[in-house]
Amino acid sequence: MSHYHRDMARGPDGNSDKPEPFDILLFGATGDLAMSKLMRGIYRRVSAGQIPEGSKVFALARSNLTREQYLERVRESFRTVLPANEFSQQQWDAFARVIDYLPVDATVREHFDALARALAGREGNVRVVFLSLAPKLFTAACANLAAAGIVTPKTRVVLEKPLGQDRRSSDEINRLVGSIFSENQIFRIDHYLGKEAVQNLLALRFGNLLFEPLWRRGRISHVQITVGEQVGVEERGEFYDQTGALRDMVQSHLLQLLCIIAMEPPVSGDADCVRDEKLKVLRALRPIEGADVEVKTVRGQYRAGASGGKPVRGYLEEDGVPRDSRTETFVALKAEVDNWRWAGVPFYLRTGKRMPERIAEIVVSFEKVPHPIFDGERAHRPNRLIIRLQPDESITLCILAKTPGELMRLKTVDLGLHFADTFKERSLDAYERLITDVAKGNLRLFMRRDELDAAWAWIDPIREGWLQSDEPPKPYIAGTWGPAASSALISRDGFTWHGEV
Ligand code: BG6
Repeated sequence: MSHYHRDMARGPDGNSDKPEPFDILLFGATGDLAMSKLMRGIYRRVSAGQIPEGSKVFALARSNLTREQYLERVRESFRTVLPANEFSQQQWDAFARVIDYLPVDATVREHFDALARALAGREGNVRVVFLSLAPKLFTAACANLAAAGIVTPKTRVVLEKPLGQDRRSSDEINRLVGSIFSENQIFRIDHYLGKEAVQNLLALRFGNLLFEPLWRRGRISHVQITVGEQVGVEERGEFYDQTGALRDMVQSHLLQLLCIIAMEPPVSGDADCVRDEKLKVLRALRPIEGADVEVKTVRGQYRAGASGGKPVRGYLEEDGVPRDSRTETFVALKAEVDNWRWAGVPFYLRTGKRMPERIAEIVVSFEKVPHPIFDGERAHRPNRLIIRLQPDESITLCILAKTPGELMRLKTVDLGLHFADTFKERSLDAYERLITDVAKGNLRLFMRRDELDAAWAWIDPIREGWLQSDEPPKPYIAGTWGPAASSALISRDGFTWHGEV
C-alpha cells in the first residue's frame, strides 16, 4: 500500500476512517460563517451518519440565548442555505440532539467555567475548538480555554483566515496559540483546500502521467487564476474594509491554488510532504516590492452598477464602509515563481467582488507549436487546459481539430470532463469535509505555520507599496471584470484574460 493510500485510510495520526467521538466547541456560533456554512456542514454529516454516537456540538456566542432559541435561528438560516429537498424532520431531530448552546464571550475568563462544567466527563472525546471569530480574539479565546483547563491532549484548534493582518500580527497569534497547542493540534483553515475541485487538481496533476512532461517552462506559456464573485461585501462591510481583497482572497485562496498548480510532486500524500512542496513554491515567489508594485499589481474598487440584472450600490455606499475608504475590492497581479520549473512563466492572479459572474477558474496556456504547417491565424491557437472549480466543476482541454470539408481548416474544440455528469455521488462541501478532517486529525488540507509566514512575507510588501502610493484604487463599475488596468497588466505581455475578447 502506498503512503498516500495508507494516509487516506488511516489519517496521519493513525485514526480509522470514521472519526472517534468528538465534541465541537464552536465559537462565533451566531456569526455569518456558522449560520451559512458550518451548521449546514454538521447537519449534512449527521444526515450521512458520520457523527459518531456520543459526539456533541457546543455552540458558543455572546448572545444570551437558550438552546431552543439558538436552534430556531439555525432552522431559520437553513431556509436559505439548505436546499429544501435536503431537509427532513427526522434528520433535523437527529441534528438538534447533538447541538447545545452556551452564552460565552471569548474575552471573559469566567464564562469558560460554565463551559468547563458542561464538558466535565467528556475528556475522552476528541475536542475540536473552532474559532470562527475575528482574529484579534483568537489569543484571548485560547488563553481562556487553557486557564479553564479545557485544553486536553486530544484537543485540536481550528483557526479561520485571515490569520492576522500581516506577518507581524500573524506571528503574534501563532506564537500565543503555539504556546498552548502543538503544531499538529493547530488546523489553519483555508476552505478552498476543502473544495472537491481543488483536491481534484491534485488528482489531475499527480494521478496522471499525461500532463507532467508538459507542466513546465518551455511548454506552458502562462497561467491565469481567476476567482470572481458576483456578490458585494454584503453585511460584512466593517470587517471587509479592514481586510480588502489582497488579504481576504489572494493571501489565502489564490496563493494556495497557485501552490497546487506549481508544486513539485510530493513524496507521498502525507500532510507534511504535501505542505513541504507548497512551502517551496511560496518561498520561490519573486517579491513584488518598491517600484514593481505599481507595475505588477492593479487594485480596484467597485462603483454603483448592476449585478444579476439589478442595480447595486458602490463600495463606498455600503454599510460599515467609510465614505473615503481606499480598501480594494479587486486585485489583479503578476506573480513569478523563481525556480527551475517555472522560470519565465508568469502566473496572473485576479479576484474581485461584484464581477459579472461567480467563477473560479484556472487556465493553463501552452506554448504555440514550434513550426506551424497549416494556414490561417486560427491554426496557431495554443492549447489550453481550463480547470473550472466553481460554480460547476469541469476540466476542459482545448485542442485544434480539422473542420469537416475539403479544406484543411482548423478550429479549437473542447475535450471536456464535467464532474456532475460523470459522477453521480454528491460531493462534500468544503466545510463539511474539513470538519471531518479535523475530527480525524488529518492535517493535509490545512496550512502549516511556515506556509502562512511565507504567504504573508510575500503579501506585506505589496500592501506597503499601496499604502505609500498617493493613488487610490482604480474604480470599476459593478458587474464588470475590474478596471481597464487589469487587462493592460496582462496584455503588456501579449496575453488576454480568458473570456476577454
Ligand atoms: C472567504 C472570503 O474566505 O471566501 C469571502 O472571506 C469570500 O469574502 C469567500 O466571499 C468566497 O468563498 P467561496 O467558497 O464562495 O468561493
